[in-house]
Amino acid sequence: MLTTAPQEFEEQSLDNTLRPQSFSEYIGQDKIKKNLGIFIQAAKKRGENIDHVLLYGSAGLGKTTLAHIIAKEMGVNIKVTSGPAIEKVGDLGSILTNLEDGDVLFIDEIHRLNKLIEEVLYPAMEDYKLDIIIGKGPAARTIQLDLPHFTLIGATTRLGSLSNPLRNRFGSTHRLEFYNSQDIEKIVSRSARILGIETDEGGARVIALSSRQTPRVANRILKRVRDFAQIHDNEIITADLAKEALALYEIDHLGLEPTDRLMLETLIKKFKGGPAGIQSLAAVTGEELQTIEDVYEPYLIQIGFLTRTPRGRIVTKEGYDHLGIPMPDEQAEKLLG
Ligand code: ADE
Repeated sequence: MLTTAPQEFEEQSLDNTLRPQSFSEYIGQDKIKKNLGIFIQAAKKRGENIDHVLLYGSAGLGKTTLAHIIAKEMGVNIKVTSGPAIEKVGDLGSILTNLEDGDVLFIDEIHRLNKLIEEVLYPAMEDYKLDIIIGKGPAARTIQLDLPHFTLIGATTRLGSLSNPLRNRFGSTHRLEFYNSQDIEKIVSRSARILGIETDEGGARVIALSSRQTPRVANRILKRVRDFAQIHDNEIITADLAKEALALYEIDHLGLEPTDRLMLETLIKKFKGGPAGIQSLAAVTGEELQTIEDVYEPYLIQIGFLTRTPRGRIVTKEGYDHLGIPMPDEQAEKLLG
């Protein structure tokens, strides 16, 4: 599955090759680039670090890339970890004490930090202090260590899952948007150039339109289309070739994959178009609830095929149209009400 495949080694090294190294190479997200650019310039002028930064937005939109660029533009080191990787308070303690003044600590999926660990982060973010408890029971005592003045960059797909105290400790919060098709097309052309693949304008456009407005998906599709071109002895990725490859991989012209269509179909056929709860949808489609929420749903909502209501998910008229199923009148009324 191109949308949800885990990031494997080959892909990570590919991501690193394709990853833009500076704001000037980074395509799209203009507002964020501008704001962060100002923070960085101002901080540099004062000879200080930048405040802690929180980045949120759907998977694959470039949060990790931005964190690397921020560190690079500040001229500091970056240490990368993630919420689920920090299992014990001691893990965070050793990460924090090994940082140097000015360093960036990037915590991906920060909403998945365990609560006890999160509490260690509060004084670290605010006062650069680490409280360590030594011993147990009545003999236990706390010692406080001074930490280097670091910048925390947190990334999350779910702003709502972050506790208020954590959210409030970030100096700025930035939401990454889905990309427009021109920007994705530029990204596809740039990646093709770096990978030594030849695409014509039509080929890049077809790939861009099927990329769910997401650079990571665009780069994955580009690679798969290159595979297809190579086994067919084609040197150049044209629109027709890209279309043929996408049909083989069952990705349609809007980037929907079989699982997306199954979700819409299930809602229509088993739940009369909804509303249906996310749990029922997960049970019937056999997909994990979290994958539905993080990967499938945001894009279906973004392109207006699905809406989220307090009573559950509902397929819209556009969603019915895409599958070629007529929408019953009573369902249209439900959407209005
Ligand atoms: N590759 C992945 N995301 C990118 C972006 N936003 N700009 C340029 N290249 C990219």
